[in-house]
Amino acid sequence: RPRYTGIIERYRDRLPIHDDTRIIGLGEGNTPLIRLNNIPRLIGKEVDIYVKYEGLNPTGSFKDRGMTMAVTKAVEDGSRAIICASTGNTSAAAAAYAARAGITAFVLIPDGKIAQGKLAQAMMHGSVVIQIKGNFDDGMRLVKEVADTAPVTIVNSVNPYRLQGQKTAAFEIVEELGRAPDYHCLPVGNAGNITAHWIGYCEYSSASGDHVTESCGFCKGRCMYAGGAVVGNRPRMVGYQAEGSAPFMRGHMVDNPETVATAIRIGHPQSWDYAWKVKEESGGWFDECSDEEILAAQKLLAEKEGVFCEPASATSLAGALRDVRQGKIPEGSSIVCTLTGHGLKDPDTAIRQSTRSPLTVDATLDSVKRAILENM
Ligand code: F0G
Repeated sequence: RPRYTGIIERYRDRLPIHDDTRIIGLGEGNTPLIRLNNIPRLIGKEVDIYVKYEGLNPTGSFKDRGMTMAVTKAVEDGSRAIICASTGNTSAAAAAYAARAGITAFVLIPDGKIAQGKLAQAMMHGSVVIQIKGNFDDGMRLVKEVADTAPVTIVNSVNPYRLQGQKTAAFEIVEELGRAPDYHCLPVGNAGNITAHWIGYCEYSSASGDHVTESCGFCKGRCMYAGGAVVGNRPRMVGYQAEGSAPFMRGHMVDNPETVATAIRIGHPQSWDYAWKVKEESGGWFDECSDEEILAAQKLLAEKEGVFCEPASATSLAGALRDVRQGKIPEGSSIVCTLTGHGLKDPDTAIRQSTRSPLTVDATLDSVKRAILENM
């Protein structure tokens, strides 16, 4: 069996790649699909809930799937620099893949509003970090303006190669389950990932043997981009937003988005039209979760299943659990929740919401024994 080297090698016949393309990869993808054992029992519902733990990608988020494609193509096209706006994870991935490729990454981040782990990554990988006195949406606008006039390749999800890479998560899920789940739940910010997953499911369910062509960019006229018919089994796509950053719930862009889940603190999603199409075509829906619900789900998952994701990622589980409890997602369903990023990305939020502080005791057998007995 060939050594696993990442999603491009694995799915090269479904991606816009040439035989001689130099692949910039870090072994991304192939992430675990973990079946929740304890939480369904706790809520007393017969459902199969799986979490797709994208936090186990090389830089700790799903962005690596898209970034390996975007940077590979940027290098192939002769680019010497890439640029992105980010709430932290895209910038971490851009910085790492640029380092791997030997090119420069410029990353625009909202001043003071990204998690520490993500900032550390961008700095450690040697990217040029530009903190702007504005939010992600301001950064996005600026990056698009700059990329029009400077010799830098934009690697936000408006770069179509990003979604191409990210669609591979859907491939992995179908291969592992043997079919698509009934529901696929995702946190929604810029709405690129929900779009990418839908592309992936559509391609997988379209007639086998049809490969992606660069002309349509996606699936030979079978996906939503061409309005073609798709056969086979696909999930309902459910997108959950943080209450204070929920343009899909408001039905319009939101100017001052707020949420503890800084990764999805976005009011002007770039894939707005695509995401509405995904909802319509898949028969899914959007909903919103409060910051309290998001943090509670993050903690529940960590404490009851041993899986640590960042706050934004827990939005998918928070929403799914509510919809299961309320019967909107019926018993007997199979559900996949994408956990988009690792919990270690944002240690500050994790520590702040921990109910159990570390115990400080004397370095004696007695003190340690007492600490154990008092806390059994
Ligand atoms: N979860 C995490 C952990 C994210 O970092 C993001 C997006 C999302 C969910 C939402 O995905 O934008 O495709 O709807 N983070 C981007 C960034 C915006 O800059 O890292 P989406």
